[in-house]
Amino acid sequence: MGDLETTLARWLGASCSLTFGRASTGLYALFRSLAAKGPGGEVLIPELCCETIAPTAYYAGLTPVMVDVDPETLGPSVHAVAASISPRTRALLLIYVFGIPFDIRPFLAMGTEHDFLVIEDIAQGVGGEFDGEPLGSRGDAALLSFGPGKILHGGGGALVLRDGGPTASALPAIRAEIDARPQAGSFDRLALSFRNLTHGLAGLSRSDPRIDVSSAFRSLLPHYERVMVRPRTALDADSIISQIHRIEEDRGRRFARYLTYRDRLDGTGWRILDLPDTAMCWRVCLVAPDATTALDASARLLASGLPASNHYFPVGLLVDGTSGAVASDLGHRLLNLWVDESVTDEEIERTTELLVA
Ligand SMILES: Cc1ncc(COP(=O)(O)O)c(C=O)c1O
Repeated sequence: MGDLETTLARWLGASCSLTFGRASTGLYALFRSLAAKGPGGEVLIPELCCETIAPTAYYAGLTPVMVDVDPETLGPSVHAVAASISPRTRALLLIYVFGIPFDIRPFLAMGTEHDFLVIEDIAQGVGGEFDGEPLGSRGDAALLSFGPGKILHGGGGALVLRDGGPTASALPAIRAEIDARPQAGSFDRLALSFRNLTHGLAGLSRSDPRIDVSSAFRSLLPHYERVMVRPRTALDADSIISQIHRIEEDRGRRFARYLTYRDRLDGTGWRILDLPDTAMCWRVCLVAPDATTALDASARLLASGLPASNHYFPVGLLVDGTSGAVASDLGHRLLNLWVDESVTDEEIERTTELLVA
């Protein structure tokens, strides 16, 4: 574990790194250290994100405040963040959704001015760069996931912290407390239940936006805490380190596949979100003209055995029953396609044929 933590800290030019049972658990630990400053703290989270993220804030004693996204990058909108800052803001999470990089300097300036932590979530963008600097090397902290299907995989997750200081020094004790928690019952079954719950509620809200799904979501959250807050179990540090050594090749291969999709879908009515060649493409992200087209296309692809998904719906619908204008429009029109080694060139060909048929 120590070698992986040292490798990550050195790679991202930070002072320390800690591994956790999963990325969500690292975020929970970080949020707990911020909640210890006193009651009433808030954390700003972009609306298009993994549904495990907002619950970690609740479990840690912070209130998640969902912010609308930028239509070009799917990261948080600078204006929405500026409008959501309050004296209670303790942190801002920047997520590079599907690996799409963006300029974080405006957010760093806001964090300095208003004294909150800026966390770069590089679960989907690790290995990518912006302006010649690795994603995860400029915020106060970076979050990595090594979960199945991620760019770096091998179980667990990690936090990388730029400076030592009160936040970093509180984390080992919080992690030790989490690692000592018993893991009773089946984790996988409960995790699947959480996923089904969130997708079911999002689908219901999509079918009739007047239905309030957020009160059900929030009232059920306490039952799922052990899904998000997990002790460290088998984390294959050696495999993750060797993937880090090969990450440039991985980035090149993924980008070449992104270009294939882009060339084949050019002029077909599908908008493909732009990626510079220094980005790490986690998934290709297409924007359909409307929600029905996106859902029909993914159903057709899945029925033909081709991987696709419609991530991410606006998580604000679950958290507080509202969602920003951009997230609620785009969140229902996204279609994601695979570029990792699990998909063959022939499958990419069949995917694009089906999409333009
Ligand atoms: C951007 C992002 N952040 C955080 C997480 C949570 O990672 P983990 O499953 O390791 O808790 C995910 C998981 O899908 C993710 O996509």
